[in-house]
Amino acid sequence: MDEQIVTIQLIEKDPREFSGDLLVYLVEEEIPHLGAEAAVAIQRALHQIWASGDFKGRKDQVVLFYPGLMTQEEESRVQAQRVLLVGLGKQDDAINVRREQLRSAGGTIARQAGGVKAKEVLVVLPREYLLDAAEIGQCLTEGLLLGNYRFEAHKTTKADADAPTRVERFFLHDGGLASGTVRKGMQLGEILAEATCAARDMANQPGNHWTPAAFADYAKKLSKKSSLKCKVLDKAALQKLAMGGILGVNQGAALPPQLVILEYRPDKTNPTVLLVGKGLTFDSGGISLKPPAGMEDMKYDMCGGAAVLTAMQALAEIEVSGVNVVALIPATENLAGSAALKPGDVIRHFGGKTSEIINTDAEGRLILADALAYGIVTYSPEAVVDLATLTGAVVIGLGHHYTGLLANNDQLAARLIEAGAQVGEPLWRLPLGPEYRKQIDSRVADIKNAGSDRSGGTITAACYLQEFVGDTPWAHLDIAGTAWDFTEKSYIPKGPSGTGIRTLVTCLSHWQSLKPAEKKEKK
Ligand code: BES
Ligand code: ZN
Ligand code: ZN
Repeated sequence: MDEQIVTIQLIEKDPREFSGDLLVYLVEEEIPHLGAEAAVAIQRALHQIWASGDFKGRKDQVVLFYPGLMTQEEESRVQAQRVLLVGLGKQDDAINVRREQLRSAGGTIARQAGGVKAKEVLVVLPREYLLDAAEIGQCLTEGLLLGNYRFEAHKTTKADADAPTRVERFFLHDGGLASGTVRKGMQLGEILAEATCAARDMANQPGNHWTPAAFADYAKKLSKKSSLKCKVLDKAALQKLAMGGILGVNQGAALPPQLVILEYRPDKTNPTVLLVGKGLTFDSGGISLKPPAGMEDMKYDMCGGAAVLTAMQALAEIEVSGVNVVALIPATENLAGSAALKPGDVIRHFGGKTSEIINTDAEGRLILADALAYGIVTYSPEAVVDLATLTGAVVIGLGHHYTGLLANNDQLAARLIEAGAQVGEPLWRLPLGPEYRKQIDSRVADIKNAGSDRSGGTITAACYLQEFVGDTPWAHLDIAGTAWDFTEKSYIPKGPSGTGIRTLVTCLSHWQSLKPAEKKEKK
């Protein structure tokens, strides 16, 4: 793992005295105003730049200048080496857009800072932005830290001299906002960004480094330094429990499977929410082998598992109250060794349901089925959410901009949609229904793992999972389009995005029991 630590802290020092690499001010569109703390020289520079028409505070517009080149009054000399003005755009009417404007500005700052190799960056917060001070601190922190992410664990040669570098220390100045409140938001933002970057690291690691055992090791380490409890079911334990889905997919691989369990139970009287994440550390397709072009991306097929694991890390660090959360990560590779599953094989899942294998590349649902069934009988959760890079079809349907959401419960679906919108990870709900379920009727087993054609592929995959959740309120997030190559944003790098963590933690942070009437609703 990449160990270099990036820090962020709130400082009280007058920004004029900051002598680091880069001093940043955020400027709203059409409002050429920096707040009273800004040095006269910077105010003057802004007015000149504004008059030139080069900068109007539009979203992610930037101006970089060097105060050392300007004549300055001795008493208010700007000490910073560089000054960056970043446009926020017009304050939008929608609060979620305003949140995103700040994250986006944070990502832009990190990118600009990286471009000039700034190591120490001070950002002055905008005082008149229509968001709670805690949210200003949180959103900006998320944007800065997520935008500052790099993965260089396997580079042994030095990057060329012009390559962007990573900021080592971020400082925020409250700009006149309540500093205690800003600090709380920053702490939350930092926890969420760190969890997200940890998930990105797991995904960036290739399949020969991030293995099922790596999931287990990370979870065990996490449990040693937090309130989380960890259990790992190894191959022998999975055999005892007759988890034919996980074992079946694992048959073609040399590395053993793992079912990683993390429990966050601050109060035993709390309701329990179950999270399940697909931890496929490499998906070759198995005997139904995938085409070679782009197959290397299938090291990312564990992003659901990484999201669930690091969401647990964040929940424990935040000390979320009012809910117990249990995470299950079924982890294995899907390879084509001589013992591999074959099309036509029938397997028996935990709980006894049988599946006919039509396509060994539809393996995610096979391992999730065991985990869902086991998690529900073991923990009696009041709701279940699973995350998985499950279908190529969701990329065809929604592209890389929305995560697909399928659920048997409207209230749970609405909560996830709201949480996703709040954090910039939008979800789009797709239907479920008997007409789709019929497509996976099997003549030889209870169900088959793929339809006879590709139509409605995301929905038939969800119908398959639905068979294993019974009446428990359940939502499935198909993140195949968003877990990597996610929609272009300043704080989302190329490669894995770490999507889902901030949505899950936000949704679970103020958890209220689902209305009982809805629990019985059947789609
Ligand atoms: N991991 C893939 C889904 C995937 C495909 C994720 C492309 C991201 C990008 C999954 O295991 C898979 O291969 N699904 C098949 C299912 C089909 C055989 C029914 C698919 O989507 O093609
Ligand atoms: Zn597959
Ligand atoms: Zn897969």
